[in-house]
Amino acid sequence: MYHRSLHPSALALAICGTALAAPADGQKTVAPVVSKITADGDLIDPGLNRDSCSSSLWSTNKILWVCRDTQQVLADGTIGPNSVVNSALFSTLPTPLNDPQQLLLHSPESFGHVFYAMEPDECGQGLCEDGICYPGLCSDGSRWVGWPDTGPVVTFRGLLGVVNAYAFITQQHLNGLSVLNTTGYELYHVTSGINLEGNTLPSTKQHVDLLWNSTQIGYGSAASVVHDGFAYLYGATPNRKLAVARAALIGLVPSLEDHSVYEYYVHGTWTHTAPVSTDPTIGTIYYSPKWESFVSIGGDGFPDANFLISTAPKAEGPWSAPLQFYSGSVGNGSLGAYSAVAHPGLTDGTGDYIFLTWTKTHPDVSGRDVYEQPLVRVDWE
Ligand SMILES: *[C@@H]1O[C@H](CO)[C@@H](O)[C@H](O)[C@H]1NC(C)=O
Ligand SMILES: *[C@@H]1O[C@H](CO)[C@@H](O)[C@H](O)[C@H]1NC(C)=O
Ligand SMILES: *[C@@H]1O[C@H](CO)[C@@H](O)[C@H](O)[C@H]1NC(C)=O
Repeated sequence: MYHRSLHPSALALAICGTALAAPADGQKTVAPVVSKITADGDLIDPGLNRDSCSSSLWSTNKILWVCRDTQQVLADGTIGPNSVVNSALFSTLPTPLNDPQQLLLHSPESFGHVFYAMEPDECGQGLCEDGICYPGLCSDGSRWVGWPDTGPVVTFRGLLGVVNAYAFITQQHLNGLSVLNTTGYELYHVTSGINLEGNTLPSTKQHVDLLWNSTQIGYGSAASVVHDGFAYLYGATPNRKLAVARAALIGLVPSLEDHSVYEYYVHGTWTHTAPVSTDPTIGTIYYSPKWESFVSIGGDGFPDANFLISTAPKAEGPWSAPLQFYSGSVGNGSLGAYSAVAHPGLTDGTGDYIFLTWTKTHPDVSGRDVYEQPLVRVDWE
């Protein structure tokens, strides 16, 4: 039970080394205007209570969702006591605008499956109860978490459901909600082999231990965009800005495993030397053909779900001033609202519209928080 924006971080939009500034000559920015808002109900996964899901377009018409803490909904409707630190599942695409319907999520894995495994030295074995183990849970009551903030970066989609992707996951040690230690950022390789039925979740393997260490920026942990031969990877800085790195996508199945493919945007130029510093933040960045712009959508942070948008002609900025365009409803549980996420993978890729989710909570009869994740479609003028 924790989320990406207890840190009261307003959406961080300036890029490291560049103040949020007016666009330079000849670089247009776009002022988005909402034309229509459509509610598509809540994300519901019968039997499971999932926190803060983000999404990636996985293969044709298939969305991979990755979520944070996942709990069981018990037979009497109450929420089970233990959380699995992260989980994944598939859905289809949302129904068309003229037929809005609840998007049902279906998990091919039973409760207890962890998508991004924890390391042995992160209480990786976890504690076990009733035949289910909870990796990350330590015997002293503290907890290691690898909470996804954003979906995997897909670098290759092949035939027959074959996909190659990477995820950048922050490794944190918590006591309750207090952070004891952020030890760094792991790179996980996320792959699907031939998957005709589409019911097998991708396999995840921790590929690079500490791709970025605790003194560096967690590039890729906050947001990512694949555009024009590069993966742009965003990570937060302690002063609540986003820093960006890019990795050239080379070869048929581009790899993000070697530091040599990365360049970092520092003081207005791309360099091969990584700068220092870190902090978690939120937001989704994608490329919009409609506006020929990079688009950043995020929330104003706990305990609200006000959505802000900003655009930039290039991945590294300059970014327009954030504009609030939607306010998500707030729950009556212990956690209000948080985890404002945009889901470009659920759209047709034109940039004409976007889907949003946020997480809010309400108490079950025993007082445990039930996560609700409304799904809303926003069409732009
Ligand atoms: C944080 O983790 C590092 C690396 O594992 C370790 O050296 C350090 O002692 C830890 N600090 C705390 C406060 O646990
Ligand atoms: C993090 O990595 C950088 C670059 O390799 C290195 O200079 C620095 O000493 C490392 N910091 C820690 C705490 O390991
Ligand atoms: C809290 O919210 C839930 C669902 O959103 C609703 O069913 C319930 O009546 C609310 N409880 C109170 C005390 O307002």
